[in-house]
Amino acid sequence: MVEELLSLKDVRAGYGRTEILNGVSFAVSKGERLAVIGRNGVGKTTLLATIMGLTRLHGGAITHAGARIDALPTHRRAERGLGLVPQTRDIFKSLTVEENIVAGLRGEGTLEQAYALFPRLKERRRNRGGQLSGGEQQMLAIARALAGRPSLLLLDEPLEGLAPVICDMLMDVFRRLAADGRTTVVLVEQHVEMAIDFADRVIILDAGQIVYEGLPADIRSDGSILSRFVGVALEPT
Ligand SMILES: Nc1ncnc2c1ncn2[C@@H]1O[C@H](COP(=O)(O)OP(=O)(O)OP(=O)(O)O)[C@@H](O)[C@H]1O
Ligand SMILES: [Mg+2]
Repeated sequence: MVEELLSLKDVRAGYGRTEILNGVSFAVSKGERLAVIGRNGVGKTTLLATIMGLTRLHGGAITHAGARIDALPTHRRAERGLGLVPQTRDIFKSLTVEENIVAGLRGEGTLEQAYALFPRLKERRRNRGGQLSGGEQQMLAIARALAGRPSLLLLDEPLEGLAPVICDMLMDVFRRLAADGRTTVVLVEQHVEMAIDFADRVIILDAGQIVYEGLPADIRSDGSILSRFVGVALEPT
């Protein structure tokens, strides 16, 4: 049987009294690669933030590895193995690359692992975060999150604004992480093609609700799903 790692049941959450997620339910199995797609402003970032405990939960339940986590503060969720790479790429701009990664180290994480995944960061280890290019800053944000050895990695539009060659390189890193079976990945991404390519399963959000859940193959074979819910079309193959 596939082991359930994370589940959301009828989750309603937002900022202050404003409710953005209006009853979201889904589960992620251990080792799974889940993609979450949807138009701008539908609540994708809010969903990841809610899993990390960064929004106001109005109702519903969040369970991780068999235990309710929805009342836990963010740092306790991180200790349980949840790691978020936010859309804002929050790195320490005044610290060096190496200091940024060291600040994220936890458990069995090491600097060497980070540099093995991102040789570019090793070359730039003495540079300050603020001196890096956009792509390098994204690599650093990911490396810092991975230094915490998360078993559940939440990625919020990691490809945003990056050159195709860097996108390919990052997707390759995510694939390698997921392939070892110990990292479960939830990927929020506007690059629908890449997200679908990567995922075992896809969820489409619209106006704070899940409007579609299915397999990449289903989405590929029925073009109306993406055009209807996301307003995009896949490149013909
Ligand atoms: N800190 C906040 N306070 C109040 N409202 C917010 C806050 N952050 C986001 N919102 C609102 O919540 C809604 C969902 O935003 P969210 O950032 O989750 O969307 P998204 O799907 O991630 O969009 P994008 O694709 O543009 O990143 C939007 O209407 C947004 O204006
Ligand atoms: Mg977002």
